[in-house]
Amino acid sequence: MTVSIDDRLAADAVAGLWADPPTLPTKWLYDERGSRLFDEITRLPEYYPTRRETAILRSRGAEIAAATDATMMVEFGSGTSTKTRLLLTAFADRAAPGPQRAGRPFTYVPLDVSTEILESSAAVLAQDYPGIEVAPVVADFTSPDLALPPAAGPRVAVFLGGTIGNFDPAERADFLRRLAAALDPGDFFLLGADLIKDTGRLVAAYNDKAGVTADFNRNMIEVLRTGLDAQGLYVDDFDHIARWNPALHRIEMWLRARREIDVYFAAVDRHWRLAPGTEILTEISTKFDRDDLAAELAEAGLDVVQTWTDDAGDFSLTLSRR
Ligand SMILES: C[S@@+](CC[C@H](N)C(=O)[O-])C[C@H]1O[C@@H](n2cnc3c(N)ncnc32)[C@H](O)[C@@H]1O
Repeated sequence: MTVSIDDRLAADAVAGLWADPPTLPTKWLYDERGSRLFDEITRLPEYYPTRRETAILRSRGAEIAAATDATMMVEFGSGTSTKTRLLLTAFADRAAPGPQRAGRPFTYVPLDVSTEILESSAAVLAQDYPGIEVAPVVADFTSPDLALPPAAGPRVAVFLGGTIGNFDPAERADFLRRLAAALDPGDFFLLGADLIKDTGRLVAAYNDKAGVTADFNRNMIEVLRTGLDAQGLYVDDFDHIARWNPALHRIEMWLRARREIDVYFAAVDRHWRLAPGTEILTEISTKFDRDDLAAELAEAGLDVVQTWTDDAGDFSLTLSRR
């Protein structure tokens, strides 16, 4: 039988699974099943970030479209682009011909590693927004060459969902530097970030009663099993753990081995042994102070134009300019 080996998964697994603590980049949570589970998470009662960010986009979408006057929006980690529709509607409205309108073409570039979700969402968007060109790109926003497509006017790069929180401080600084270098002077960056708040609400958002986040996290085991042709690796041997790290103000998701694990990864010809109770780090989700975030943007050469929060002050949306 021929086994299809994903070289990138193999490289990340070899670099991370034998480390202390074992870890795997968060992007591997997002195969097709993982992306669908994440979409389900966004509708859970405990998962406030999507509702809060949606509220800001609903009330500020037209203002953002007017302030940027963009001809292109590039969205990192676009997923299903559900919330992005609020921006697309505002930009489509400006792009439509009319006395008060810009009346010029607008391009939306959703960018994601999750190919199936990206392509199916882009196809529906193209139908729903006939006045907008939808040009999806399958890419990894952590790769060194963060090139953006050229445009006839200002571009706005968009990073929603609090996904910036998945980077540790060094990765975040590196991402902002690469992004600033990819933008031209006069381009914009719109960043959604989850803010520091009550620990109980934060932990509940990553450990819902229905167990959807647990399924999402444990799906990483299934990605490893199928991607690396693993023998002896079972999802049921791992528990989902979500805990708040106060020193680094972040939620951490771990997978804890319920028993001794002895796996053979045929794709990389390696054994993986874990003692019972060993934890694998699968995701960090940093929570921010809005002034610190503005300082990080400025450090990268992105000047804050405006920050909006929802009424409860749970989530922020920051527009900055290169
Ligand atoms: C937390 S979800 C957010 C989805 C959506 N933007 C939202 O706000 O609901 C993160 C998204 O980023 C994508 N993603 C994760 N790591 C990525 C990477 N390294 N490069 C590109 N996309 C990535 C995932 O596939 C997923 O769609």
